[in-house]
Amino acid sequence: MMLDRKIRSFLNSFYRIPYLVPYWDEEELEAFLSPPRDAVEALESELTRRLSASRVMAVSSGQCAIFLALKSMGIGPGDEVVIPSLVCRSALAPILRLSATPVFCDIAGDLNATAETIEPALTEKTRAILVPHTGGKPARMAEIVEMAARFRIFVIDDAAQAFGGDHGGRFLGNWGDAGILSFSAGKLLMSTAGGVLILSNPNLPAPPPLPAEPFAVILGRALRAMLRFRLRKHTFPFFLAFDRMRRPVQQLERPLCRMSVQDAAMAMVQLRKHHEIQARRRGNAETLIRLLSDVEGLTLPDPPGHTFTKFIVHVGSPGPCREKSPQVLALHRFLESRGIEPEFTHWPLHLRPDLAQFLRSPLPVTDRLWKGLISLPVQPWLGPGDMEVTADAVRGYFAT
Ligand SMILES: Cc1ncc(COP(=O)(O)O)c(C=O)c1O
Repeated sequence: MMLDRKIRSFLNSFYRIPYLVPYWDEEELEAFLSPPRDAVEALESELTRRLSASRVMAVSSGQCAIFLALKSMGIGPGDEVVIPSLVCRSALAPILRLSATPVFCDIAGDLNATAETIEPALTEKTRAILVPHTGGKPARMAEIVEMAARFRIFVIDDAAQAFGGDHGGRFLGNWGDAGILSFSAGKLLMSTAGGVLILSNPNLPAPPPLPAEPFAVILGRALRAMLRFRLRKHTFPFFLAFDRMRRPVQQLERPLCRMSVQDAAMAMVQLRKHHEIQARRRGNAETLIRLLSDVEGLTLPDPPGHTFTKFIVHVGSPGPCREKSPQVLALHRFLESRGIEPEFTHWPLHLRPDLAQFLRSPLPVTDRLWKGLISLPVQPWLGPGDMEVTADAVRGYFAT
């Protein structure tokens, strides 16, 4: 495929093994340029069928889907929503936007919240828990839902990072009272952006109809996304710095809209490729696990049920610092110097000065683990040869 080769050779001029490249070719481009008029409805019914979900609504982002889930639960000022601190900041914004109070909870060794880590954060004001599946590793939803029922609180199953994963034979996103999916940057399946709200609890009212996104916004986002992925090495620090300075944390990244036909049509193409994308990621992850399993000081992800949207490893024994551990920073530099692009996993939100007020009690596991976390590239354009190069580089770092 001509386009694939062009994309790959262009990217290779920046990184030999890039972290994040959308698995797009002519089909996605064609879907974007001439989407069917009923693309959004078609996506909704395909997802309803695939996930055995009841009510599905395609919206402009995963964050908007969380906002709508909380709103349909009637959550507002004075209500508390429990959320792990080790989560992408966009999952938190909808809680603040509704003037509710987030309360941070701890995680277990698999980087997910559990019934045991959530329970200490509950108070009589708690109305909901938001449960992400970090990097694609399924959280233990059955226990969380059972505990939430005892305390009469809602559960939002945040499967933004875990499309197609399942727990106990039930698809992620389809547990609890409401679930969300995301088709935005860095997810297993990608459009230029997009999210899905799944309402599983029949008592929750459906959100009102949403406006359409203006085409100029969608086009601008598509162009920005293309540039952003390709020039990531050079632009990413600026995006991060600019983003942090500019945007208050309670502001939603995208306006609350219905998913665009362009994004829905691209998502349909990605859905058709789901098995291929998943198999390539899993194959890469399994190769890395096999090649790195005997490296001392490196903890690898646990494969069962994992979608490997991120391949997060833990390095070394972190010291008492408020930054990433020196070992992780050194590994990051070492890999970059060999043309391999790693990614740092989210900074815990309770460490941000403007969010520290939402920390009620210590989070020992989060505090112990986050400094040593780093993600290695397993994206679907890569293959076994790339994994060997990556594993050799990681081994080389540990040998120095
Ligand atoms: C766990 C989690 N939830 C929600 C979101 C928000 O999704 P979106 O980027 O589509 O708004 C993200 C985004 O990275 C995420 O990682």
